[in-house]
Amino acid sequence: MSPVHSAVAAGLLGLSFLLSALADNPINPGFPYGSQKVRGVNLGGWLVLEPWITPSLFDNTGNSAIVDEWTFGQYQDYNTAHNALVNHWNTWITESDFAAIAAAGLNHVRLPIGYWAFEVGPGEPYIQGQLPYLQNAVAWAGNHGLKLIVDLHGAPGSQNGFDNSGQRMSYPHWHSNSTNVARTDAIIKTIAGMFRDNPNVVPIIAPLNEPAGFYGSDVLNVVRQYWYDSYGNIRYPYGSSQESNTVVLLHDAFQPLSYWSGFQTPPGWQGVALDTHIYTIFSDQEEAMTQSQHISTVCGKQSDISSFDLWLIVGEWTPANTDCARYLNGRGVGARYDGSYSGSPRVGSCTGLTGSSSSFSSSYKTFLRQFWEAQVISYEKGAGWIMWTWKAENADEWSYQAGLANGWIPQNPTTLQYPNICG
Ligand SMILES: *[C@@H]1O[C@H](CO)[C@@H](O)[C@H](O)[C@H]1NC(C)=O
Repeated sequence: MSPVHSAVAAGLLGLSFLLSALADNPINPGFPYGSQKVRGVNLGGWLVLEPWITPSLFDNTGNSAIVDEWTFGQYQDYNTAHNALVNHWNTWITESDFAAIAAAGLNHVRLPIGYWAFEVGPGEPYIQGQLPYLQNAVAWAGNHGLKLIVDLHGAPGSQNGFDNSGQRMSYPHWHSNSTNVARTDAIIKTIAGMFRDNPNVVPIIAPLNEPAGFYGSDVLNVVRQYWYDSYGNIRYPYGSSQESNTVVLLHDAFQPLSYWSGFQTPPGWQGVALDTHIYTIFSDQEEAMTQSQHISTVCGKQSDISSFDLWLIVGEWTPANTDCARYLNGRGVGARYDGSYSGSPRVGSCTGLTGSSSSFSSSYKTFLRQFWEAQVISYEKGAGWIMWTWKAENADEWSYQAGLANGWIPQNPTTLQYPNICG
């Protein structure tokens, strides 16, 4: 971080402290976080492409070097790429999805969007056009009584190197370049300004998805400062001492909850929630777990979840217990579970564990229901949960829509068949 950036950020931080101390009223959010449970679903793979959610978009390019949204723009002519994206944006999620999500008893959607929807720098091959769809989504959420979380999922330089940040790379460079961070601050200001007067439909802004805190303090120090700046940008969007009612949803940057204990807590800070993502599939050890070990692992998180000092939302999780979904680890990368991922020992065949639910055995579907319920029970020990993801082209084990259609997700999320699954 440059000295200039630090100084600016420190000024903002001081201002936020002062304004918080002077505030007469605590935040009045658009949803009663803490007293009612968040029950929601992510709208993955819509305004930010993910190869595993829509493999056809990538396979149809005929170019195996296209592995993320950056290369989708880089290695195709503009009209070809733009036409494919517009068709995707028009069809992947429509208002009928919002109606179905509301009918399934859910109250929130989390919508990932990339920085490039707002601003593209010189030499960056991203294709724009997402913003009208964000506005549509907000209108549709309002029409169907849903709360919408705007989630900045990709930052300039990539905050984690994952394809779902827009740009897959071996080491991300958002955090090491103060221009990237300043651009991201400006985008959060823009988003906060867009929705500051609509907290009943957009009660939360998540300033950055999954920054790569696993790389250590080089990243974490930048993330902490960025969270301070984001607090000022989201909670004070009027350019004055007037506060918004918008909640700030901070990702835990892959740190244990204890790392964030005491961070931005009331009364000095108002309207901050923490987002944690719980997956039990992205390591060899987890792939080797039995079904009942997957269930006991998530049940075992209940006391940490219930004792955390901010509203804690499990903003991503899945009933899938393998990494079998094609392209899940990246286009052209295999799965740990079947040993096709370089260096991973084979656990078993992926056949019948991913793809269409017509290939799923009844005992697998029973497990999906049990694992889903164990997670819902456990995550409702905190402020609630948002499953990843609403739909996927060919990975039904990840799809809320497929779970509803095939019975491993109940039509009403409070109707549990295994209420004692966690013992
Ligand atoms: C920092 O990022 C900006 C884009 O945000 C880029 O133009 C610039 O070259 C980068 N600086 C360095 C030193 O890499």
